[in-house]
Amino acid sequence: MIERDKAKYFHGRKEELKQFKFLLDLSKKRGIGSSFLIQGAPGVGKSALIHECEEIARKLKWNVVKLGIRSLSNETDLFNHITKNTNPKEIIKSQGVNFQVWKASIQTKSREEIDYVNEDLVKSRPTLFVLDEAQNLGIKDTFSNEDKKQIVDFLDRHHNLKTNNGFVMFFGGLSHTRKVLVEFGLSRINEECCFNLQPLDNSSERAIIRDWITEKVKYKGYKSEIEHWIDQITTRTSRWPRHIASYCNQIDVHLQKNEVLTDGQLKMILERGDVLKAKYYNQRCEKLLRTDRKILAKLVQHLPSIFDKIDVIEFLKKEKDLLTMTKEEFWDASVAKGVFHLRVDGAFSIPIPSFKTWLFEQYGNS
Ligand SMILES: Nc1ncnc2c1ncn2[C@@H]1O[C@H](COP(=O)(O)OP(=O)(O)O)[C@@H](O)[C@H]1O
Ligand SMILES: [Mg+2]
Repeated sequence: MIERDKAKYFHGRKEELKQFKFLLDLSKKRGIGSSFLIQGAPGVGKSALIHECEEIARKLKWNVVKLGIRSLSNETDLFNHITKNTNPKEIIKSQGVNFQVWKASIQTKSREEIDYVNEDLVKSRPTLFVLDEAQNLGIKDTFSNEDKKQIVDFLDRHHNLKTNNGFVMFFGGLSHTRKVLVEFGLSRINEECCFNLQPLDNSSERAIIRDWITEKVKYKGYKSEIEHWIDQITTRTSRWPRHIASYCNQIDVHLQKNEVLTDGQLKMILERGDVLKAKYYNQRCEKLLRTDRKILAKLVQHLPSIFDKIDVIEFLKKEKDLLTMTKEEFWDASVAKGVFHLRVDGAFSIPIPSFKTWLFEQYGNS
């Protein structure tokens, strides 16, 4: 199993985890499917949280089915995913069909036939569908009209699926994911099952960093040094999981087991962490060329902390000779990479801590 999204030391997110457990239980009791949504800026910790939720579900003997957006319109792909950890033989046999025969001829079967079996499989035990990066459903021209119709149909059928075992569809994605799902006809996610993930609380941030350091340091006498390191690192992480990971990964790389904690070590870890943090900022801009980034740097200086699309478009009109793309493309690229972040009130913000400062330092002075 790929453990890519697993946080080495997970802390915080108590409320979200509690609500998730409650929903699993409720879905079983009510015998009806439900949806759960975690949305937020890139690096805020969605995938790590999703991973924790999957673990909870597995411990409770749920079948966790990880999907990509393509699986929603591909019933064979879906079948393969569902049957990864499940034994479909009994189910198919109970329909009076030999499983091997059925599977061998899957390519010749109609969509309805496969969907029918898929649904039976889902109903045969508690099942959690997981779709991370679900905002990508909304990318223009990704799907043909036929595919789109199938996805709408899929979401509609599963959202209220009647099953005595329990069924939950879990979506993760950038802050406009809910909007995208609504466009796909999924409008009924209950408010209490929809979370807009925020930066971690102060003590969770400290606990994560402390865990990474103490793994390396066994000597108890380092207590005050460790707290000093945490003080220093947190001045650069702003309770932002991705930033925290940038520095903690450097602790792992540069601190040997049972090594002495020195100011020199700390300085190096901070410097290397800064470099990794900058890499992450660069990734957010990867769809923009240098001249576009300069315009972005100027734009973010000019924008209020909460703004509308029209503010950006009006600003870009003045810069259109230098832009290497259309104003709409610039807007779409910035939303797709989470540089502009849809707030619940329908306005936008720039969510990633210190991103504006970095942009200005890199691209603001010329
Ligand atoms: N609650 C948490 N506790 C510890 N580490 C976390 C937590 N949330 C996220 N992380 C770490 O922060 C980094 C970014 O988180 P990730 O889940 O990939 O963000 P997103 O999916 O929102 O882009 C990852 O390295 C992840 O392991
Ligand atoms: Mg993620």
